[in-house]
Amino acid sequence: MSVDIIDVLLGEHGMLNALFEQVERALPTATTREQLGWAIDTLEAGLTAHSGLEDKILIPAMERKIGQGGALAVMRDEHTELEDVLRMARLSDNVEEARELLKRVITLATRHFTKEEKFLFPLARHDLTGPERAEIGERWAELRCVTLAPRPGEPRRQRRPTYPPWGDITHSSGS
Ligand SMILES: [Fe+2]
Ligand SMILES: [Fe+2]
Repeated sequence: MSVDIIDVLLGEHGMLNALFEQVERALPTATTREQLGWAIDTLEAGLTAHSGLEDKILIPAMERKIGQGGALAVMRDEHTELEDVLRMARLSDNVEEARELLKRVITLATRHFTKEEKFLFPLARHDLTGPERAEIGERWAELRCVTLAPRPGEPRRQRRPTYPPWGDITHSSGS
């Protein structure tokens, strides 16, 4: 089965937006450095992995088509800026300052996502062919350790999953 990398990245934005909401809700009540540490770890884990994938598999493919610089360079720069502000929050020992920096990360990331959704992703759909986007989707699956199941009629790359007889499931669930 193939997935279009742009659909995949849009899905990641959706998950990250939900995560931003959670962090935003928790920030006002985070009064210690330890409580803020959770927010920093959460944002870092979500954002750094997402931006890293875009830097590694999407932007290079687009650079091969339209050259470096321009909007692609801006996207890379914004990824670096997000990492920098997160690092500043991690290094700050002032709770108020760290909280403001985290709010800034969320604001910057939200704006960045909007730019990608309105400009970068439509450009990628235009400039990369369907098979190219699917190939990048497969690379994404490898890096995210996601198994893409074949669609009906598609050549299978793996054995059809086999399930134990229903009787066995009933038997084991009763224990
Ligand atoms: Fe990005
Ligand atoms: Fe993105």
